[in-house]
Amino acid sequence: MGQLDGKIAVVTGGNAGIGLATARRFAAEGAHVFITGRREVELEEAAAAIGNATAVPGDVSVAADVDRLYERVRERGQGLDVLFANAGINHIATLDELTEDVHDAVFDVNVKGTFLTVQKALPELNDGASVILTSSTAAESGSAGMSVYGASKAAVRAYARAWAAELGGRGIRVNAVSPGPVDTLLWDTAFGERAGEMLDTVAAGLPRKRVADPDEIAAAVTFLASPQSSFVYGANLYADGGMNQI
Ligand SMILES: NC(=O)c1ccc[n+]([C@@H]2O[C@H](COP(=O)([O-])OP(=O)(O)OC[C@H]3O[C@@H](n4cnc5c(N)ncnc54)[C@H](OP(=O)(O)O)[C@@H]3O)[C@@H](O)[C@H]2O)c1
Repeated sequence: MGQLDGKIAVVTGGNAGIGLATARRFAAEGAHVFITGRREVELEEAAAAIGNATAVPGDVSVAADVDRLYERVRERGQGLDVLFANAGINHIATLDELTEDVHDAVFDVNVKGTFLTVQKALPELNDGASVILTSSTAAESGSAGMSVYGASKAAVRAYARAWAAELGGRGIRVNAVSPGPVDTLLWDTAFGERAGEMLDTVAAGLPRKRVADPDEIAAAVTFLASPQSSFVYGANLYADGGMNQI
């Protein structure tokens, strides 16, 4: 018996990194997983690799794309049991460098995208469903260049608290997960050629002197998705190697 046998799950940003690792794990635990992301080829490849998965291309910051995702979920006729709102972007810019366009882009995906992903899921969510939002250690730590990303992730953490209060009456649990540094493409897009150097620097400050593998975050998300966390509401689960804890 898998922990998610017969369940229907949605993972946004399911074609790479933490989302892909989590979608794989959900499927291995018995769920059928709908994955979404903008890059269609990578999305189709991910769905094929996962096996029990449906690829629905789309951008979480575009309402019509999110509608299309849930139309596909509705067609399956079993509602939705697990929603992992994971899609996100980072952009490094100090206050003097930050532009309005960059600020809008980060908030459009990380904040508005999370809002659309969860609000538009409401008609599909089964009683007792689990919703997991992706925050970050950056929500509660101040690093130069990380202000807009950190602010967007603090907003996501706030969503988890209020939505847990609003949906808890139906037994729908809303929680956040806050990864520390994880070796994914996010670092390449944010830091370019300096990504490896930045990961090494951050790793050196952690007790185990390493960053996380995406699977280690997937394990934490699977705990929140499963009945193992049945009394966990509105929490923020850090899987950060001790980064914000020590
Ligand atoms: N890696 C870390 O150290 C770390 C730490 C803390 C939190 N996080 C958070 O974890 C989440 C996953 O990040 P990751 O590290 O796995 O990064 P990643 O490897 O870059 O993956 C990001 C995923 O999000 C998707 N995505 C981005 N913008 C999207 C949009 N507008 N619409 C739909 N999908 C979109 C990407 O697919 P497409 O590009 O095809 O759209 C991709 O699947 C993010 O929310 C990130 O902020 C990461």
